[in-house]
Amino acid sequence: MAERNDRRAVLLIRRGTAAEAARYERFEVPYEDGMSVLDALRWIRIHRDGTLAVRYSCINANACKTCMALVNGEVEYTCTAKLTPGPITVEPLPKRPWIRDLVADTVPDDEKLDEEEEPRKRNGAR
Ligand code: FES
Repeated sequence: MAERNDRRAVLLIRRGTAAEAARYERFEVPYEDGMSVLDALRWIRIHRDGTLAVRYSCINANACKTCMALVNGEVEYTCTAKLTPGPITVEPLPKRPWIRDLVADTVPDDEKLDEEEEPRKRNGAR
């Protein structure tokens, strides 16, 4: 007979946008040894709140670097940051324009297209 897992991790997640007052939402997530913070965020999106904005791509390969966020005040890759049972605070990257929830604009300024340039480049013009 399989044992039931009653262990839980608690995450406090910064939600909203820069235009709103700061708010944190608390989520309890089933916890197993070896889980990452990103595993917990994905569980929340699937089982509790599909509107939670999170970025990731490679998941645990530590290659895409899109999953970066502040985990307990430290910049971390959420896909490799170990989940622990105690309350974990997850916030968007500081010093980058905040888009929503855990998503910040990480495109370097010199790689952004301005509004006039974008349609021309899309059409192949230089
Ligand atoms: S999801 Fe790619 S580095 Fe974390």
